[in-house]
Amino acid sequence: MPTIAFITGITGQDGSYLAEFLLGQGYEVHGLIRWCSTSPTQRLDHLLQDAGGGRLTLHCGDLADAARLGALLAEVQPDEVYHLGAQSHVRVSFDLPAYTGDITGLGTVRLLEAVRRSGVRCRFYQASSSEMFGSAPAPQNEATPFWPRSPYAAAKLYSYWMVRNYREAHGLFVCNGIMYNHESPRRGETFVTRKISRGVAKILKGEATQLVLGNLEARRDWGYAPEYVEGMWRLLQQGEPQDLVFGTGETHSVRDFVEEAFGYANLDWRQFVRVDPSYFRPTEVEHLRADSTQARRFLGWEATVTFPQLVRLMVDADLRAADLEAPGEGLRALGNRVRWLRNPLS
Ligand code: NAP
Ligand code: GDD
Repeated sequence: MPTIAFITGITGQDGSYLAEFLLGQGYEVHGLIRWCSTSPTQRLDHLLQDAGGGRLTLHCGDLADAARLGALLAEVQPDEVYHLGAQSHVRVSFDLPAYTGDITGLGTVRLLEAVRRSGVRCRFYQASSSEMFGSAPAPQNEATPFWPRSPYAAAKLYSYWMVRNYREAHGLFVCNGIMYNHESPRRGETFVTRKISRGVAKILKGEATQLVLGNLEARRDWGYAPEYVEGMWRLLQQGEPQDLVFGTGETHSVRDFVEEAFGYANLDWRQFVRVDPSYFRPTEVEHLRADSTQARRFLGWEATVTFPQLVRLMVDADLRAADLEAPGEGLRALGNRVRWLRNPLS
């Protein structure tokens, strides 16, 4: 019998990579999708086409709907639950604080309750975030006190503690992966890295003359998403549940990302990038850098894709998507490090 996984957020960046990874491991994969009048499965279409040999099933539902989550848990009877679904955009959370609290915070509790009440014995991964560290000085690790700086971070922190409470109070096998920023060609288009890589492609294509950004000084620890979904899986294969930090240990500013991306395309970024304060956040997270010693020690997990390789891969992908010639250095540098990934450029 194959191992059965249930993934919330399967249509997102991480969910699509995780589904691909687990299907490659021989899993039967079930995913929660929101009903939508347009197709939400763009990132999954390559998997749905051959449906992993019929091992991929999508179920309509919503993290706001506790009854549906309970029914699905009972029906699917998963061995592993990966809870990735969330309103995941930090800037948007300032405009939608209550909605973000409901979906990103309470949504986790609805799913934990569905697990507990169904009596299904499964392992549970919670997509916690480095945003929870907020203003805590870098580098941050599992012992660093949290200091959330947005409604999104506060909602994630609530989920983090509820996961710990369900472990301590009810004995569930539940783990927090505290992940730093991870990016890819599948990254949502309004997150800064993808906005930049697409911006380069649009400028080269003649579809845009400038790229408007917010705070260029914020520093992030940016890694490559497919490596992080492997970390999620490894965390659930442990003998005991625990909470671990996942990141590269390197930090770069948004400005560094811009310079690298435009430089790779032989463009002088100063001619094209304009800063608009309307993109600034009411409270910013200035500096994130992971200390992932524990993930290395317990899981043997390490991020291997470097910052320039990540930037180049993303620019290559957006150039190709715009039918432009791509230097291909990002793809070449990746080699076959992520063997299970069918097409790193899409
Ligand atoms: P993403 O691309 O924004 O995907 C979010 C997923 O959640 C999408 O599948 C979305 O569905 C789904 N979703 C949103 N609201 C929902 C609702 N009400 N009911 C059911 N599903 C809902 O995010 P990601 O980058 O893959 O990140 C995955 C998770 O890890 C998120 O929880 C994020 O907060 C967390 N995280 C991400 C990073 C990172 O750097 N990527 C780092 C740390 C933590 P639709 O497609 O229908 O919108
Ligand atoms: N989105 C965006 N758009 N961010 C910009 C822009 C812009 O035009 N200009 C500058 N930035 C800055 C933001 O102010 C922030 O400091 C940084 O770029 C990164 O922003 P995002 O790419 O939106 O990511 P994030 O760090 O806020 O959040 C992401 O990573 C978290 C993990 O640390 C999301 O994936 C979260 O879901 C995740 O938890």
